[in-house]
Amino acid sequence: MSWISVLILLTISASLRPPNVSAQQYQDLSDKTLMKTFGKEFNVKISVVKNLLDGQEYLKINTVQPDKTYLGLGFGQSMTNAQIMIFIADGTQSNAAEYFSPRATRPTKQDNQNLASTFKQNGTHVEFTAYRKFKPDDVNDKTLSLNSLVNMIYAFRQFESSESVTLKYHGGDNRGIFKIFVDLSGGISDASGEGYSEDDSFDFYVYHGWLMWVSWGLFGLIQLASNRYLKMYWKVNMWVHRLSGSIIWILTLVFGFIAVSKADWEVVNSLHTIIGFIVTITVTLIVLGGVFTRSMMNRLRWKTHLILKIKFGHRMFGLALITLSQFSILTGGLKYSTWAEYMKPLPITHISIFFLTSFVIEIIHQRYKTQEQPFRVPDEIMTMEEFKSKIQNGSQYVLLDDLVLDVSKYMSNHPGGRFVMEYNVGRDISKYFYGGYILENSGGLSPHYHSNVARKIVNSLIIARIDQKPFQFMARIVEKSDVNSTTATFTFRIQKQAGNLIQFQLPASNDISTFGKHFLVKSIANPRVKRQYTLASCMNKHIYEQYVKNIEKFTSNQDIQGIDESFINQSSYNDNADIYLTIKNYDTRSGLSRLIHQQKDVFEIKALMGKGLDVQRQGTHLAFVAGTGILVFMDLVAFILRQNLGLLQGSDNQILDQKNFKFVLYASFPSPEDSIGLELLQGLQKITQMQELKNFELILRFSNEFMSERWNAQFIERQVEIFTQNKQIKKIWVCGPPMMNEVFDRTFEEISQQYDLDRSIVEIL
Ligand SMILES: *[C@@H]1O[C@H](CO)[C@@H](O)[C@H](O)[C@H]1NC(C)=O
Repeated sequence: MSWISVLILLTISASLRPPNVSAQQYQDLSDKTLMKTFGKEFNVKISVVKNLLDGQEYLKINTVQPDKTYLGLGFGQSMTNAQIMIFIADGTQSNAAEYFSPRATRPTKQDNQNLASTFKQNGTHVEFTAYRKFKPDDVNDKTLSLNSLVNMIYAFRQFESSESVTLKYHGGDNRGIFKIFVDLSGGISDASGEGYSEDDSFDFYVYHGWLMWVSWGLFGLIQLASNRYLKMYWKVNMWVHRLSGSIIWILTLVFGFIAVSKADWEVVNSLHTIIGFIVTITVTLIVLGGVFTRSMMNRLRWKTHLILKIKFGHRMFGLALITLSQFSILTGGLKYSTWAEYMKPLPITHISIFFLTSFVIEIIHQRYKTQEQPFRVPDEIMTMEEFKSKIQNGSQYVLLDDLVLDVSKYMSNHPGGRFVMEYNVGRDISKYFYGGYILENSGGLSPHYHSNVARKIVNSLIIARIDQKPFQFMARIVEKSDVNSTTATFTFRIQKQAGNLIQFQLPASNDISTFGKHFLVKSIANPRVKRQYTLASCMNKHIYEQYVKNIEKFTSNQDIQGIDESFINQSSYNDNADIYLTIKNYDTRSGLSRLIHQQKDVFEIKALMGKGLDVQRQGTHLAFVAGTGILVFMDLVAFILRQNLGLLQGSDNQILDQKNFKFVLYASFPSPEDSIGLELLQGLQKITQMQELKNFELILRFSNEFMSERWNAQFIERQVEIFTQNKQIKKIWVCGPPMMNEVFDRTFEEISQQYDLDRSIVEIL
């Protein structure tokens, strides 16, 4: 080992050793020393001494403090960027050292120590004597000078004898600021009264922590709940959502940005500052997103798919932000809980409770959704006429089953957007509600089955029911007769029910007010799926055959026999009575039609419901129908058939005006084989022409045939043009698959002004 290396080692070991603290080498400069007592038991003596070895001035600090305590004395006015001398009294483990505190949190020990200290301890107290150079070698350390004011901070904490002494937070009371004056001769005097630092950041971080917890922990949960779980309280839930969102927004902006500014905009400082900063800057985006979503929900028309996408975006963004903020609470809580004992279990407790609560609520919600709350039965009764006149006068009512709902206030809260509700004012919304149909087909939307939450909302909207209460009964299928390859007429036999005599009567075939009304059918095996099937008595095999026979006889000039409808015109129906429904098999996995076609289950039926066709005595009635849509009109066709065959009795001939009633039927089927009731339709057409009557016109289309006319907007407009010439269109019915319905719906909306069409005459069935 060479000389040089020995020298270097000696130099290094010398520089690592704390400065020499032998009291003899220091000389008091002035006898003017400062005595201060912090709390009751922390006694501090500060004076200036000269080191005889290096000739430099030193601050001499003498503390007498109880064992198991710390005392911090720092330079500056707050803990931000403060150099702090910390005297830890811990029996024989006592020590003093210089720390640096970048901000309000726990300070860290400095690498280069300017403090030389010794201590004495007698079991109950520790006495420190420490020297700190006026002009430290490191330029970053605080430099002191004679004839100057020095701002100082202090803080202390006492620990139980069982505790270990660590740098835990001292609390808001055990701290303060003071000012010393060092005069030219090295005398020290107190230059201030005691006071508390205005700018102690730790208290801010405590508020910050609690307020962010309130924002995202409590109000975050409220945001989730108001948007997802409390939809049934539609009158208030969006206000709660808005209010709670605003609170989160403001608190996060204010306390988030103050926190970032206190950290000197050093965002990449810890996981907490990174997550916190992301939450702070994106919270405005989610608020704007919410405002935007609401506005789009109220504004967009025929764009439900877009509304749902926007809502999805807002929901996902919100969920992400709420989740992220929980981690911000966790990281922030863990960071500051080292300072205060009571905080320690909070972050983990919060996270556990938050996610557990969310999970439990979600499960309860999912269960609730699949239950079935029965609809409220209102006392108020409204006739169809009253309903219509209310609509004419601007009331915003819709029909659901036999219930009248006032949706005027609810519209803007409808999850699918305002438009779909507004557009259906005055209409029967049952088929949409039960998920059989959809108003708009664009954007790959499929019909929406409304959950129990929606049923609960419906209950809050019910204002009346239409006419008489519908009947409800159980039935099972006893007979099936095919109409075509996919459609069949089923005989449902009413089931005996213990003690209850069911009295149900199929409407008489001359009761035109029942035409187009429906049966609501659900299976016992899968009660969630409900479908509406229209009453079409003439589709009963036995009756249908009589009609066909009469048409044949009439067209070949033979005597007709009339129709025996005895089995539908019974005075009352009891147990074991039959009901006939013609139903197409859509053959979807959980579909009701498949169950019916399998004839396996027991079904619950509610009848008769809906608006029906509301056939007028006079005027032109247009119907555009495709496929099974024809069933809605079959009884009307049969009625006109009886009229034109001369089978109606007496005043029944006056039900439809002989001269001024006209029914124009546009019927579309894929092919003659796949048609429904074709013999009756074509038979009536023939008989009407033979008699030179004007009350029925059939425009038949087979869509599979080459060159079949497309029912597009131009076609629709042309038909309307033809029949508006004599200004007598009383009704336009459309009943086909969803796509077709939508084309008609939108076309009528566009042309209604041009042709002076009252939109209330258009019914999309
Ligand atoms: C220890 O020292 C302190 C301060 O000098 C004194 O007040 C205390 O009585 C002493 N305790 C014992 C047990 O001597």
